[in-house]
Amino acid sequence: MAAIVLDGKQIALEIEEELKVRIANLEDNGVTPCLAVVIVGDDPASHVYVSSKERACARLGIRSIRVDISADAEYGEVVSNVRRLNADPAVNGILVQSPLPNSMDEIAITDLIDPVKDVDGFHAQNLGRLVQGDVSGLLPCTPAGVMRMLESADVDLSGKRAVVIGRSRIVGMPQSILLAQKGVDATVTIAHSRSVEMATLCKEADVIIAAVGISNMVTSDWVKPGSIVIDVGVNRVNDDSEKGYHLTGDVHPDVRRIAGMVSPVPGGVGPMTIAMLMSNTVRATEMQQ
Ligand code: GUN
Repeated sequence: MAAIVLDGKQIALEIEEELKVRIANLEDNGVTPCLAVVIVGDDPASHVYVSSKERACARLGIRSIRVDISADAEYGEVVSNVRRLNADPAVNGILVQSPLPNSMDEIAITDLIDPVKDVDGFHAQNLGRLVQGDVSGLLPCTPAGVMRMLESADVDLSGKRAVVIGRSRIVGMPQSILLAQKGVDATVTIAHSRSVEMATLCKEADVIIAAVGISNMVTSDWVKPGSIVIDVGVNRVNDDSEKGYHLTGDVHPDVRRIAGMVSPVPGGVGPMTIAMLMSNTVRATEMQQ
């Protein structure tokens, strides 16, 4: 039987409806949430992501500020912009789009952001709270979006074997902690480029979260029948189309014939990430009142 396809776009719309009520409450108190996005350089994919974040802000009535910095700017220019946004009481959320140029220290920049404005949830203080089991703060958007997606599908993760493929600071590591947290209770394996017998690890999993950035890496022979496969990958594959490329996930489309549930690319985790960013921006604004 074909897998159930988890509709991230639809769940994201439901989250936006909930957020509109909270934004209206803030407006009643004279407060308009404001998200500032800092983007350095001209990586085309990053510009596409930032534009979709701005469009989501516009749909919800969140004010957005975009700070464009050239790739060859001094590191100090990024630092001074983050400091300026930290000090601006009208700015509630700050996000520095990753990746930064190689010459810039991404973690140092993240840790300059005021933790109550850290809508990416990547500041050491916010990640530290997460490791301590406190999930009430600003959580990294993609992993939080995956959790919300699983919750919407009524998936019970307790005692289930989850394999997270990828150990990035943006997805893999925080995702693993969210899956293993008390109350969710999955048994988590973090697989990565040095893991051996990846196919065997995956084949034993009830849940696979693929966040590795390799097009179609997870094939149907890696997947246990009926399992849940969440695809965090967004890979640009060049083709002869007008755009010159199309998007693929980390999970091969044939997996749908074996798995019980899958998330599509596009229309799966991507819209959930943006919805969680909007949610963090509203939460940050509420916390600052
Ligand atoms: N680049 C890819 N995903 C993300 C994200 O969630 N946050 C930031 N800041 N940059 C990204």
